[in-house]
Amino acid sequence: MSDLNINNNNTNNNNNYIDLQFKYIMVGDTGVGKSCILHNFIFNRFKKDSTQTIGVDFSSKNITINNNAKIKLQIWDTAGQEKFRSVIRSYYRGAIGILIVFDLTQNETFSHVKLWLNDAKNYARNECSIIIIGNKSDLNEKRVVKKSLIENFCDEYNCLYIETSAINGENIQETFIKLSENILDKIEKGEIDINSVKSTYEKEMKKVIIAEQNNLINKDNVQNYCDGYC
Ligand code: GTP
Ligand code: MG
Repeated sequence: MSDLNINNNNTNNNNNYIDLQFKYIMVGDTGVGKSCILHNFIFNRFKKDSTQTIGVDFSSKNITINNNAKIKLQIWDTAGQEKFRSVIRSYYRGAIGILIVFDLTQNETFSHVKLWLNDAKNYARNECSIIIIGNKSDLNEKRVVKKSLIENFCDEYNCLYIETSAINGENIQETFIKLSENILDKIEKGEIDINSVKSTYEKEMKKVIIAEQNNLINKDNVQNYCDGYC
């Protein structure tokens, strides 16, 4: 990333200031650790007593990548339970990053990645980036999904791959950075239209209100983290 100057309207006259907002959605079977990963990313600590997500939750965090690219991530964490499957499909709309999580200690959760991938292809933007996350890497002795199998799969479906632990924090920050860098790279190459990833925060907040009205989200679960340039 070299000289990307995107926010021309910015009043602080800093040419390196980049004002982008990426919408992400986290999907995967119930219990694989989506909410714990997100909580660790937002607050840098493990989420004790995590309960099953009902519908969706929304979080937002600002990150800086490639030295000067400042990006507001708006992240929808979805319920993995089957009964929410159709309802969460509407949250793929406009997402530029998809995080598909599975549990390294549960074969079935990896075999379901294909189904989540299918939903992503059907309901998210064509040019979105997808990262597959093998979570619970701390449970090494219980691991059943072989790395070579996952890597072949990711090559075949053109997805990024990373292994994380929401307990000890391994690769949690790196996951979001890796995905964001990949998207920024596509913007730089002209594969993603820069105007299509700007100023959607207000739109997402409206969705939070609608989700609340439909009992799909508890507003107390909306997490925000600002690192000083909100
Ligand atoms: P749904 O909301 O139902 O879709 O589940 P989820 O994917 O959000 O799972 P959640 O984050 O609630 O975590 C499920 C369980 O896995 C909890 O008991 C967590 O403590 C545990 N867990 C999450 N991440 C890790 C991890 O990295 N390592 C280990 N050992 N346990 C984890
Ligand atoms: Mg959850």
